[in-house]
Amino acid sequence: MKICVAGKGGTGKTTISAVLARFFARNGFNVLAVDADPNTNLALSLGIPLEEAKKIVPISENKELIAERTGVAPGSSWGAIFNLVPDVRDIRDKYSVFAPDGVSLLVTGTIDYGGSGCFCPAAALLKALLSYIILKEKEIVIIDMEAGLEHLGRGVTKKVDMLITVIEPSVKATETAERIRKLAGDLDVKEIYVVVNKVYSENQSKLIRGMLMKRGFSILGEIPYDEEIVKADMKGKSPLDYNPDSKAVKAIHGIYHKLVKIIERGTV
Ligand SMILES: Nc1ncnc2c1ncn2[C@@H]1O[C@H](COP(=O)(O)OP(=O)(O)OP(=O)(O)O)[C@@H](O)[C@H]1O
Ligand SMILES: [Mg+2]
Repeated sequence: MKICVAGKGGTGKTTISAVLARFFARNGFNVLAVDADPNTNLALSLGIPLEEAKKIVPISENKELIAERTGVAPGSSWGAIFNLVPDVRDIRDKYSVFAPDGVSLLVTGTIDYGGSGCFCPAAALLKALLSYIILKEKEIVIIDMEAGLEHLGRGVTKKVDMLITVIEPSVKATETAERIRKLAGDLDVKEIYVVVNKVYSENQSKLIRGMLMKRGFSILGEIPYDEEIVKADMKGKSPLDYNPDSKAVKAIHGIYHKLVKIIERGTV
């Protein structure tokens, strides 16, 4: 099962991806967490110490690998002929690193597409990598996406089983969820859910739930605003290690349970 976590900048994609990944891993799933963000920081949220996290080179910046697999070095002149379907089968095993609870982390990074869409070796490699990650048995792949929505339309993330849109509670955010739902139409996504993060009050929760339900969104859960998450972030720690009993971590645990039920139901 391949789950994409998308949404605007700073909504909580990385925090939620990381905590979910570890809950799945703790409960016997093989978990591959993919950091597909240019500001790669999923490693820290997963609980990899800063010193180790700093050593990870994103695939998108691994010039040797890109050259080896596509036949062309990144930055080569336009028009160079390169392999559009590079062999990526061994990359996950060779380049993923271990995070706590046995999560595997693959830092793909992303490409600066420069507006019109990039047709370059690095993009070809990433596209192949994200599209052809072969799922192992009882495996969950959680992709922490780049902020914003444009990349969703680029087909880099084809064949996703589930898209989780993370929003903060506001009227504007429901518009974002709407745009993501439209873009997801191009991606063959079977299920689309919304997670509302950083909820302050019961009133706010009711209001946003009402708006989302009226528009036909399925709400996977909501997570309260929780200072413990901010503190964990400031210390460069996983919220799960910093305070496993925090309200937000408990809410993410609830979301994990819902996901397990959806998986068991077999609709995805
Ligand atoms: N439930 C929460 N309560 C309080 N703060 C939160 C909560 N969830 C996330 N945050 C804080 O919001 C900030 C952004 O979170 P995070 O990095 O997970 O978001 P993101 O969507 O991955 O951001 P980016 O778009 O920059 O990748 C962080 O400082 C994090 O600590
Ligand atoms: Mg992030």
